[in-house]
Amino acid sequence: VATSTLSFVASANCIRHVGAEPVLLDIDPTTRNLNIEAFNALMDDQPLTGLVAVHFAGLPIDLTKIKRPRILIEDAAHALGARTAFGPIGNCANSDMCCFSFHPVKAITTGEGGAVTTNSAVLAEALRRFRNHGIRPTPELGGWAYDVVAPGWNYRLTDIQAALGTRQLSKLGSFIKRRNELAARYAERLRELPVGLPPSAPEGLHHAWHLYPIEVPDRNRVYNAMRSAGIGVQVHYMPIHLMSAYRDSEHASLPAAELLSSSLLSLPLFPGLSDRIQDRVVEDLSRSL
Ligand SMILES: Cc1ncc(COP(=O)(O)O)c(C=O)c1O
Repeated sequence: VATSTLSFVASANCIRHVGAEPVLLDIDPTTRNLNIEAFNALMDDQPLTGLVAVHFAGLPIDLTKIKRPRILIEDAAHALGARTAFGPIGNCANSDMCCFSFHPVKAITTGEGGAVTTNSAVLAEALRRFRNHGIRPTPELGGWAYDVVAPGWNYRLTDIQAALGTRQLSKLGSFIKRRNELAARYAERLRELPVGLPPSAPEGLHHAWHLYPIEVPDRNRVYNAMRSAGIGVQVHYMPIHLMSAYRDSEHASLPAAELLSSSLLSLPLFPGLSDRIQDRVVEDLSRSL
């Protein structure tokens, strides 16, 4: 099961957890998403069972260009609020399932937790069983009766979290609008600086702007300087194939991801960021370069 090496390690961990073998693929530097040509070439060579397709930073990967494996799951942890010509990410127009994260840094939060969407009644039923210890009610045998065909987990969201999430969801539109405004302001203000800007959404796509990862020279020094100035910059991500758990000869070198990730630095981007503080981030960055 393939995924992009430039992602949070959860994109590969989920593959390992079901006993499959992660195949980590390089990125297309123009989108920073998985290299679709590399994936398609692999499909011709040794058909893969599945793909965990990450929408890096909130920019949707074009699933219509992908040679369909048996299972296609979108990792939309960054992409709640993004849209393609097919509609909102999460409608599974070109996938089997789509996974969201509601961690506090995400587009909306429930404290912790997430959601999976699907158009398949069979998968929906399996997901509901999975999140509740594998329990399948069998009312034909009595109101109390249930069966367990395969063990599941407790993956239930609490009612308290659901209440928070419902309220948050009603604000999603305004959150994503502000993220887009802030991304446009960064692009405008960073134009004169010697930094690489993240790809914006081509015609027909709406970016969720979960992250604003720029490319800077001497990244670690700039990271330290910004942190010392009190600016919460972050690195997204060290490629997964360089982590101890995933380092092996097959993924020895994925050069585009390695090259890009060595210079990536995510600038603060969240709906509550004011224009004034954003301008300060840019000033501190220009001093730190
Ligand atoms: C791309 C990606 N996938 C998956 C996850 C995992 O989300 P969670 O920690 O809510 O399970 C994250 C979290 O940051 C992520 O960024």
